Amino acid sequence: MRERLVVGNWKMNPPTIADAVSLARAVARAHHGAVSVAVAPPFVAIPAVADALAGSDIAVYAQDVHWEERGAYTSQIAASMLRGLAVGSIVGHSEVRRDLGDDDGRVAKKVLRALAADLRVVLCVGESEDEFEHDETDAVLERQVRAVVRSVGSSQGRLIIAYEPIWAIGTGRPATAEHAAKAAAKIRNVLRDEGLAAEDIRVLYGGSVSSITVGDFAGARGIDGALVGGASLKADEFAAIVHAFG
Ligand code: PGA
Repeated sequence: MRERLVVGNWKMNPPTIADAVSLARAVARAHHGAVSVAVAPPFVAIPAVADALAGSDIAVYAQDVHWEERGAYTSQIAASMLRGLAVGSIVGHSEVRRDLGDDDGRVAKKVLRALAADLRVVLCVGESEDEFEHDETDAVLERQVRAVVRSVGSSQGRLIIAYEPIWAIGTGRPATAEHAAKAAAKIRNVLRDEGLAAEDIRVLYGGSVSSITVGDFAGARGIDGALVGGASLKADEFAAIVHAFG
């Protein structure tokens, strides 16, 4: 049985570190249950949030890591710098691919670096609106997943994949449960084909998950949780999403 997981991706929110600490405390207060829960605050808020969540069941993730161990990479954060603060990181989010130029090659290097630093990784994959309309979802997933998993090997226990169709992120227009289930099956086919234990690797759905839309995904075949953006910024709303997966 794969343990269900809900991760709140706070992106560039909330406005201050004090707000991040309040949100973290509210998330911890609202959480009772069997589902694993994590929050991914902006880097600068991670130490304060980690401190606020010490002793709680809520894990802290980063939103990205750099692919090199250290060096002349102005503005970047190395995986080793998260030690003692975060247990995992999101990698390959479509907003990072869009805004910071990450491609499959870079995402693959980041995933390996994070896994080598003993972090869990939520690898984000998913097609654009145009690719969706041209029925290219399977081809995109095949390319994005294959580029990364080839060298994951014995660290696969710490790999989680989030299927996030770009057209569903922040639009209030989630994918259907059927589309998400089909994508999860495709992802597992590629994992299997690459020799990984596909049935043990969690696949999350992300893109306009809210307390209203979550029911579809909580019941979708092969979906083991959610990566939640906007709705993770309200503790009660986030708790309702977590509850739906319980
Ligand atoms: P959303 O974002 O829930 O606001 O659509 C999800 C994500 O980008 O991870």
